[in-house]
Amino acid sequence: MVPPEELTPEQAAEELARLAAEIARHDQLYHQLDAPEVSDADYDALVRRNAAIEMRFPGLQRPDSPSLRVGAPVAAGFTKVTHARPMLSLDNAFDEAGVHEFCARVRRFLGLPADAPIEVVAEPKIDGLSASLRYEKGRFVRGATRGDGTTGEDITANLRTLADIPQSLVDGPPPAVLEVRGEVYMRRDEFAEMNAARAAEGKPLFANPRNAAAGSTRQLDPAITASRPLRFFAYSWGEVEGDGWDTHWQFLERLKGWGFPVNPMAQLCPTIDDALALYHRVAAERATLPYDIDGVVYKVNRVDWQRRLGFVGRAPRWALAHKFPAEQAETRLNDITIQVGRTGAMTPVAELEPITVGGVVVSRATLHNEDEIARKDIRIGDWVVIQRAGDVIPQVVNIVPDKRPPDSRPYEFPDHCPACGSLAIREPGEAVRRCTGGLICPAQRLERLRHFVSRDAFDIEGLGGKHIAAFLRDKLIETPADVFRLKDKTTEIEEREGWGKQSVANLLAAIERRREIPLDRFIYALGIRQVGQVTARLLAKCYGSFDAWRDAMIAAEDPTGAAYADLDNIEGIGPSVATDIVAFFAEQHNLEVLEDLRRELTIEDFAGSDGASETLGGKTLVFTGTLETMTRSEAKARAEALGAKVAASVSKNTDYVVVGADAGSKAKKAAELGVTVLSETDWLEMIGEA
Ligand code: IVH
Repeated sequence: MVPPEELTPEQAAEELARLAAEIARHDQLYHQLDAPEVSDADYDALVRRNAAIEMRFPGLQRPDSPSLRVGAPVAAGFTKVTHARPMLSLDNAFDEAGVHEFCARVRRFLGLPADAPIEVVAEPKIDGLSASLRYEKGRFVRGATRGDGTTGEDITANLRTLADIPQSLVDGPPPAVLEVRGEVYMRRDEFAEMNAARAAEGKPLFANPRNAAAGSTRQLDPAITASRPLRFFAYSWGEVEGDGWDTHWQFLERLKGWGFPVNPMAQLCPTIDDALALYHRVAAERATLPYDIDGVVYKVNRVDWQRRLGFVGRAPRWALAHKFPAEQAETRLNDITIQVGRTGAMTPVAELEPITVGGVVVSRATLHNEDEIARKDIRIGDWVVIQRAGDVIPQVVNIVPDKRPPDSRPYEFPDHCPACGSLAIREPGEAVRRCTGGLICPAQRLERLRHFVSRDAFDIEGLGGKHIAAFLRDKLIETPADVFRLKDKTTEIEEREGWGKQSVANLLAAIERRREIPLDRFIYALGIRQVGQVTARLLAKCYGSFDAWRDAMIAAEDPTGAAYADLDNIEGIGPSVATDIVAFFAEQHNLEVLEDLRRELTIEDFAGSDGASETLGGKTLVFTGTLETMTRSEAKARAEALGAKVAASVSKNTDYVVVGADAGSKAKKAAELGVTVLSETDWLEMIGEA
């Protein structure tokens, strides 16, 4: 990266424009879509780079500069708010037995007879984002998300834009302090309308009303929140001063008086059986309600009892969420397709006759893996029961045997990748079958290319995942080696939006700088499954050069041969990793990719300097005599930095004695004890300084 002080004003302006756009995009991905593409550290690096350039060229600061955003540092996003009373979650029950168990617990705790009726308020459990609203002397002063229950995010400005949330409490003299808690949600019809508008504008869509509500509420720019159809239901309280009520039901009445929307289905139930009756009624109406709910909440009505019951862990003993079972439906399985992920994992997907489940049209469902299909004997043409629970991807629960077509055949899971035709293998003990196509498989290509240029691999400055995706889409690159041929496409890139002569020149210079690469980095960059940085270094260290490594890996195809045994014997590499490496080399495509890269690159032999730590880690060294190239304390520091212990005298526990000029008795003692004696040159070689 060009240091800010070396940028020309023209370059600086260009980069500030790029950074403003990029940071804004990441902000949107993070806050609006809840789908970040970069790590927090990478994001922070962009923000810091932007600030450093602005510091050097204050006159070039843009009106849309990320540094000018209101509030806390952009990276931190929202200001934190500590809740005056923690925001709790709820215990769940999934059946009536769980509900009766809840009542029994309440009675036991309060010392009531086993048949004492427990009066509860039953309310729908709204599927949205919970929020806490603080009113002081009747005026709305702060709004916060739940966060971790103790500390949330300050979203006051955003919540002020919701028409459902009163700015000040109507109805008589207000309490000194009132915290109202409830759920921000989106209606299904308004969600659909909003998504349709987004689709028309080519904007990414929200998966469901809950994600849309959460994403829209947690916006740094309240204007965006204001433009979204958000609504609110109030259902509980936090800190209260200067007011009180005896029952939850009274509280709900008060809420309405103050101007809060309270769910119209909430009902006072003298016994738990009344509550269960309401549960069934709500469940039956669920699909036709205007908003998503995922259960019914029961709350002990008497506040004095609530106080006595208190909390256990993060949930009150006086409340229970009775969840709805996942919604199910029957439909025909038209086909099974295979999705290939980044590491080549092949996931079977059910292609269904579209059907509405819980208000959502479902046309695809996951089948998990090949064993799952075999276990349930799922066949193309079958009628299947599918299920959708909340956010979860729809699942195929089982088949309907009576409706099986007479001519159906068991499904055969492909042993070749549908995207590239490469062999797909399944390792012992693994449920997943994987494509071995690696870099040649189009399905894997994008993620692999991203990995190839990533920081610990080729680390090409200015060539991020976004550019890779765009270049790949427009066929400027297809294989890793194409990155090093981008210089032949200079004009095409310069003409692209967001690029100019200077930025292309910078990119090409960054690429040129990476034409020489250490062997271990190169191996890591290939993205072979299970070959991370540590394994890559082990391989580089063991084989030394690219040619030696490649030849040995090709020879290792024979699992009974010496080459395989050598690989398997490397400390830190077991049969599972060895199999993945061999599988990579067994693919002709991968060999071609390697040859192609070799033509473009200089792959440096393993230098050995890093290996020093492996040689020295945990060893005990003694220095004696005068070293020529470094002082004794420097030598000690170097040894310790590499994990060695430095001792003053030689004993049988000493691993090495490093002998400088005029060494005395210690060298003799080492010889007597049979301890390895190193010359200064040996020592320098060992630490990679020779
Ligand atoms: S009462 C101490 N009532 O469900 C009681 N919560 O799974 C706190 N929720 O964090 C919650 N509808 O976001 C309550 N009618 C309702 C609710 C409700 C939805 C959410 C709320 C809570 C979560 C717990």
